[in-house]
Amino acid sequence: MDRFDALLPRPVSVRPKPGSLRITHDFSLKIEGEPGERLSKAALRFQKRLADKTGLFLEAGEPGQCALVLQCERVGELVLGEDERYSLDVTPTQAVLRATTDIGVLRGLETLLQLISADQEGYIIPCVEIDDEPRFPWRGLMIDSARRFQPLDVLKRNLDGMAAVKLNVFHWHLTDDQGFRVESNEFPLLHELGSNGEYYTKEQIRDIVAYAHDRGIRVIPEFDLPGHAASWVIGYPELASAPGPHVRHIDIGVLDQVLNPIKESTYGFLERFFAEMITLFPDEYVHIGGDENNGKQWLANPEIVQFMREHDFETILDMQSYFTERVLGILTRLGKKMIGWDEILTPNLPATAVIQSWRGRESLVEGARAGHKIILSNGYYIDLCQPAEYHYLNDPLPSDMELTPQESTNILGGEATMWSEVVSPETIDSRIWPRTAAIAERLWSRREDCRSEDLYERLDVISLHLEELGLTHEKNYPQMLRRLARGRKISPLQTLLDVCEPVQGYERVIQRKYTVLSPLTRAVDAARPDARGAREFRNLVRHYQGEVATGSRLKERLRIWAQNHEALAPIIEHSPVLQEITDLSRSLSTIATLALECLESPGRSLNEHEKTALAEAKEPRGQLQLVVVSAIEDLLTKER
Ligand code: ACM
Repeated sequence: MDRFDALLPRPVSVRPKPGSLRITHDFSLKIEGEPGERLSKAALRFQKRLADKTGLFLEAGEPGQCALVLQCERVGELVLGEDERYSLDVTPTQAVLRATTDIGVLRGLETLLQLISADQEGYIIPCVEIDDEPRFPWRGLMIDSARRFQPLDVLKRNLDGMAAVKLNVFHWHLTDDQGFRVESNEFPLLHELGSNGEYYTKEQIRDIVAYAHDRGIRVIPEFDLPGHAASWVIGYPELASAPGPHVRHIDIGVLDQVLNPIKESTYGFLERFFAEMITLFPDEYVHIGGDENNGKQWLANPEIVQFMREHDFETILDMQSYFTERVLGILTRLGKKMIGWDEILTPNLPATAVIQSWRGRESLVEGARAGHKIILSNGYYIDLCQPAEYHYLNDPLPSDMELTPQESTNILGGEATMWSEVVSPETIDSRIWPRTAAIAERLWSRREDCRSEDLYERLDVISLHLEELGLTHEKNYPQMLRRLARGRKISPLQTLLDVCEPVQGYERVIQRKYTVLSPLTRAVDAARPDARGAREFRNLVRHYQGEVATGSRLKERLRIWAQNHEALAPIIEHSPVLQEITDLSRSLSTIATLALECLESPGRSLNEHEKTALAEAKEPRGQLQLVVVSAIEDLLTKER
């Protein structure tokens, strides 16, 4: 694949030209126009990344002989819809990157870094003309810092990853039942009692907001209300709808705790709270959550029931809609716009509220028709360990969408959501990357340029590029395997886990009870979505037409798997935490042996017992799924 095919997200227009620009030790750059400090810092980061990528000791070149010229007309504002266009012209003597705003230049610099290539004489940038701009203005990643606290370095390296694939919104889920993660001086018991001591100080919040700003990324804070608020009422029980005692919760799941929506003091509290928080978050949008309020505590509180009766509120949603409108009023007075999860979408919700669609696409259509701006997250739940291709095929605005052109403009884009019930700082990158790059392309590139046939090959390329930013999705895999193998050789364990994936969807937390203290160091945590070994085998099977060479490769794979249990069993014996994958390991060897026998004796068919073994191999064990079974079945069918 050439450098242009590998560009991710795919630019709007790429016109390759003959020749290339050599990158030598005197490769220098200059900035023209009205650049501002953000672009100067970005240029420095670019030079460092260029040096790191090439190993060149860059020196300042002769004045006037710059290899790279950056031109912009003005400093961009971090607001919805800001101009992010850029154009890039690379000739054998110079690369010129032009944009209206410095943010556009930042996007173009990421493209340029992805273009760096090499020939026998050294590093080059192939000559090309590129014009590029985003399809959607809202391209986000949400990280949940509430369930499992995520340290600053995790956030920073992921902001770098976001910038590399041109995402522009960091949605920061800061409060939830299990933790209140931001310092408040107005109400210090929120973070003091609502967390385990792991919260962001105001200085740290400002640091992250500034770090994101430097990369052209907006930061939207989420304070989840009125449900998901168990951590609020520990220090401030007067906010609660039910009597205490109010304690910290470590269990995963939706709790009953919900703020009291009928007390004026609740709104007074929230007004002071938001007034304080907006001093930390300059963006014009604030997310108020609004999801998964089961209403049990409201219906169990006679005063709330009485209030509902007096106001003709028939349902919990009616009561919540009152609450939402009051909070909207507060945010409007504070000069902010409100976002909420799709539960806030009710017929009387003012059109200024933005809806984040997560439970299905219905709210996207319904909300857009009602005049709300919409962000799509349904289909982008990366915590559920689904394949990259599944997310990639999820277009916020497919061509057959039943919306008028005017209504379609209400679809702002989308956000990948990294909920943190079962991720740790060690595993979070492997759940975000590289799959989020596929979502980033879906949100940046034109619909017709989102073709999935070479998606995985391109993700392999971007994955290594992302690793250069310090992301740990690749390097932590062998590290985790070493811990699991307790010093023994990891290759047999890797052979197995390369064809296993964590169970998908909510199965992980349905099959087993988790708290925020549960260990996330088991085989299921080391394993990753889109297991590479399984994908390679599936591709071989898909293209196999009886060719001898491919047949040998397939058999070679099967032989390795057939013998793997024998190699892995002593490691499992040595490492008790691996016992839960014993059957999985045995299954892989059993079905691989079976497949080899069938391939080597044409005419041999599976008996009932063997068919059962294949069916059983699909059952999850240790919360892992052997994802190579159906490819083996396909191979056996082809051979017949
Ligand atoms: C959500 O996943 N509860 C928005």
